[in-house]
Amino acid sequence: MLPTLDERLTAAAALVREGEPVADIGCDHGKLTAVLAASGKYPKVIGADLRPGPLAKAKQTLEHARCEDRAELRLGDGLSVLSAGEVGTIVLAGVSAQTTWEIIEKAPWVSQPGGPRLVMVPATRHRELRRWLWEHGFALVADRPVQAAGRWYAVMAAEYTGETHAPTFTECLFGGTGEWPEGAGYAAWQKAKLPRFRLGVPDGTPLAEEIDQILRED
Ligand SMILES: C[S@@+](CC[C@H](N)C(=O)[O-])C[C@H]1O[C@@H](n2cnc3c(N)ncnc32)[C@H](O)[C@@H]1O
Repeated sequence: MLPTLDERLTAAAALVREGEPVADIGCDHGKLTAVLAASGKYPKVIGADLRPGPLAKAKQTLEHARCEDRAELRLGDGLSVLSAGEVGTIVLAGVSAQTTWEIIEKAPWVSQPGGPRLVMVPATRHRELRRWLWEHGFALVADRPVQAAGRWYAVMAAEYTGETHAPTFTECLFGGTGEWPEGAGYAAWQKAKLPRFRLGVPDGTPLAEEIDQILRED
């Protein structure tokens, strides 16, 4: 039986480039790997994880979905399981923002024009991942807010252009989520966390003024 994906992984799957190989890094339970494999839209589907336990779960999921022969499972750290140019899309879902950028940094072949699309669903610190991407020459081609299990997530797709951008705090906080109907809910969630963050920002600084401005807006 094909597993059901939550809203996060459903949105991530929709951003994978069709017709090209795809890797689901940190695949854990293997649900996304199985759905991608069963779809028949990709010439190669790779599921990978740092630990053998999750990979064993992924193997079971693929067997239950009867698509174990349509996906390869690989054990290893981040993108070390891939060769340069092997896939058109890399999915990194459910790991922290910092783990996401550390994984990207260790594979310089990703940060090249014509490199793979990155589809990311950071478990934490969306704002910091957006900043990292812009400061390191990636363009955000999608930034979709989704709610799953009562929490807000941002499902991002990025491609390397080499053009760096020094974003404002506000840009990092909301990204492109305002383009979606769910953007208002996401913005309210981000704003609700701001007063606490503001306590650690010295009064009179440009950052304090920017945050106060966001908090004044409806
Ligand atoms: C919370 S699970 C996310 C599973 C799935 N991607 C999702 O979003 O539902 C995170 C998985 O990432 C794996 N992981 C963490 N760091 C990793 C790394 N550096 N390389 C590969 N996998 C990693 C963990 O072992 C774990 O199975």
